[in-house]
Amino acid sequence: MQEAIDIMDFPDSTAGADAISGRVDLKSVSKAYGEEWERQEVITNLNLEITPGALTVVVGPSGCGKTTLVNLIAGFETPDSGEILLDGRAITGPSKDRMVVFQETALIPWQTAYENVVFGPKLRGELARDALRQKAEGLLAKVGLAEFMHKYPLQLSGGMQRRAELARALINQPQIMIMDEPFRGLDAMSRGLMQEFFLRLFEENQRTNLFVTSEIDEAIFLADRLVVLSNRPAKLRAIIDIHLPRPRRYQMLSSPEAFRYKRQALEILHQEAMRSFRGSQAVYSASGR
Ligand SMILES: Nc1ncnc2c1ncn2[C@@H]1O[C@H](COP(=O)(O)OP(=O)(O)OP(=O)(O)O)[C@@H](O)[C@H]1O
Ligand SMILES: [Mg+2]
Repeated sequence: MQEAIDIMDFPDSTAGADAISGRVDLKSVSKAYGEEWERQEVITNLNLEITPGALTVVVGPSGCGKTTLVNLIAGFETPDSGEILLDGRAITGPSKDRMVVFQETALIPWQTAYENVVFGPKLRGELARDALRQKAEGLLAKVGLAEFMHKYPLQLSGGMQRRAELARALINQPQIMIMDEPFRGLDAMSRGLMQEFFLRLFEENQRTNLFVTSEIDEAIFLADRLVVLSNRPAKLRAIIDIHLPRPRRYQMLSSPEAFRYKRQALEILHQEAMRSFRGSQAVYSASGR
């Protein structure tokens, strides 16, 4: 089910409609899970600013606490200590101002792409029927699904499902878009196309975007600011400002700067992996085996 979309030329039906604000401040945020005797610290004393206009990408080892960070900013979880502010006000719960696209598809399987997109606003009775239809159809066209809007999720390719999810998030005109490894599991070509597509959306509206990945190439391809996290419990290891012109696809195969950024991030991630490996070796020998 391969469809042709020209990522550089989709209709810009909603440009200008989105709010341009939204600064997120994490101040000494810590989070742990589990009962006291098996408490597992997942995020420790994390300070981070996420500002509109610059694409912030978080990269970190598998299982380090990236999704926990996403859940905290989305308001699905609350910090144990510290606070998270949106434009100076504490985040106290989920809101349609902060939309998340997760790696697992969250589309309602028995609804078409169109029905999925209108579901939230319809439930909240936000728009008159015709206005909602117009907006949803415009967005679905924008994400290259004009011909597929009446298909069910299982009739869509993985890339199409992600684009339907993007449309479903964007219809809320969120201040903040959070993407948690949204393209994991797609084949390399679809993933590349989705990255370019996402960048195009980002450049168009300049809303606050947080993109989480464990893939270093994806991180450097997308990021203005690359936030590198440690192993669990996640701590801030580095912020690397990426000064590479876009588009970066081919530059990343030959430019010394691109290699330098990649090396910088990889060195940190490698140190973290070694630390975790030594930690588990110590636990193993302490267990007497
Ligand atoms: N609701 C929860 N209850 C208990 N433990 C949790 C919960 N959510 C996450 N954890 C634990 O927190 C740790 C970090 O998980 P998290 O999903 O945030 O990591 P991640 O970096 O997103 O991982 P991945 O790279 O696999 O996506 C894991 O050990 C996980 O088991
Ligand atoms: Mg995760």
